[in-house]
Amino acid sequence: MFRIPLSIVVCFAIGAIAFGQEGNSLSPRDKLIVETVLRIKDFKIESSAPAKAALLRYLRSQPGTEQYFELIERFGLTDVAGELTEFAIAHADETAGVRAAELLFKLDRQKLLIDAISAEASEHAVAAVALIGRVGGTKTQEILMPLIAASDKSAELRAAAVAGIARRSDGQRALLKIVADGKLPADLNFAAANALLSSDDKTIVAEAAKYLQLPATADSQPLPPISELIQKRGDPVAGAIVFRKSGTCINCHKVKGEGKEVGPDLSEIGSKLSREAMYVAVLNPSAAVSHNFETYSLLTIDGDATTGLLVSETDAAVTLRNAEGIDKTVARDDIELFQKQAKSLMPQDLQRLMTVPQLIDLIEYTLTLTK
Ligand code: HEC
Repeated sequence: MFRIPLSIVVCFAIGAIAFGQEGNSLSPRDKLIVETVLRIKDFKIESSAPAKAALLRYLRSQPGTEQYFELIERFGLTDVAGELTEFAIAHADETAGVRAAELLFKLDRQKLLIDAISAEASEHAVAAVALIGRVGGTKTQEILMPLIAASDKSAELRAAAVAGIARRSDGQRALLKIVADGKLPADLNFAAANALLSSDDKTIVAEAAKYLQLPATADSQPLPPISELIQKRGDPVAGAIVFRKSGTCINCHKVKGEGKEVGPDLSEIGSKLSREAMYVAVLNPSAAVSHNFETYSLLTIDGDATTGLLVSETDAAVTLRNAEGIDKTVARDDIELFQKQAKSLMPQDLQRLMTVPQLIDLIEYTLTLTK
C-alpha cells in the first residue's frame, strides 16, 4: 500500500496552522506548532520553514526557561547562538547562564564565548572566562591557559582564568607545574594559592604548599582558602567594631555618612557583592579594582612621588588622593611621569590586622550593609 511519510504530512499540517501568522508575539498557533513538532520523534526542523519560524518566535518569548534550553538542544538550533551568548554573559553567576554556556559548547559554538574574552566591557570579558571555567570541560585548559601570562589582560580576568583552570584536576596539575617552574606571574599568587590549597587532592595541596601560601593573619595563623571561609558565619556586631578599629576600613570607606572617602562608599555593599566576592574584595583587592577607583602614580620633575586615586584632571593640573585621604595637586608642567597602575590603592595585606574569627565577623557585617 502507498504510504505518505509522517513527516511530510506534518509539514503540510504545520504549513496550514502557520498560514496567516504575522508579527513576532507569541501566539496560540506557535504554541500548537511547537507542541506538534515536539511530539514527533526525529523531526527535522530544517524541513519546514514555517515550523522553524514558529519555534524561533516561541523561543524568543521565553529566554532562559528550561523549555528554551531543551528546544535549542533538541533541534540543534545554532541560529540562536548569538542570543545564547548574550544571555550567558548577562547571567554568568546564575544556573541559567551556565546552562546557556553549556549549550554553546554542545552546539560547537564556544567560539562566541572565546571571542567575548576580548570584549571591551571588562565585566563581560571576566564573565566569559568564568563561564568557560565552569563548562569548558576538556577544552578549558587549551582556552584559558594562554590568559595567565597575557600581559594585555587585567589581573581580575587572569585570576578568573586561574580559578577556572583549577576547577578540573588536570588543570590543577598544569597550574602546579607553572608554579613549580616559577612561571606564575606574582599578581596571581593569591588566586593560585586559593585554588590549589583548597584542592580535594591532598597530594596537590601538599605540593602546592611548598611554593604558595595564603597570607598570615594577625595571630600568625595562615588564612584558610575562601571556599572554606564562606562556609562560616560570624557576628555582625563584632564585625562592625573590626571595621572601625583594628581593620582600619573606616579610614578609607564611608558607611552611612561615617568615615573617610578614599575608597567607594560601602553603605550598600551587601546588596552588590556575594559572600565570596566580599572575601576576594577584602583579601585580594587588586584582583578586581572597582571602576573609577583605579590607582595612579605620579612623579614630579624634582622627584616627588605620589600614588593615589584620580580626583580631577585638567589641561593645567592633576589631583590625586593618597591612601590617607589627602589630596595633592600637581601642575602639568611639573609632571615627569603620570601612569595608571594595575594595583588597588587598598592594601593587599589587611588580613594581618585581624584574626580569622575577626575576619569572618567583619565580612558578616559588610553583608548586612544593604539597601
Ligand atoms: C588605604 C585605603 C583603604 C583601606 C584601609 C581599605 N580599603 Fe577597601 N578599598 C579602597 C579602595 C581605593 C577601593 C577601590 C579599589 C578597589 O576596588 O580595589 C576599595 C574597595 C573595597 C571594596 C570593593 C568595593 C566595590 O564596590 O566593589 C570592598 C568591599 C572594600 N574595599 C572593603 C574594605 C574593608 C572591609 C576594609 C577593612 C578591612 C577596607 N576595605 C580597607 C581603599 C581602602
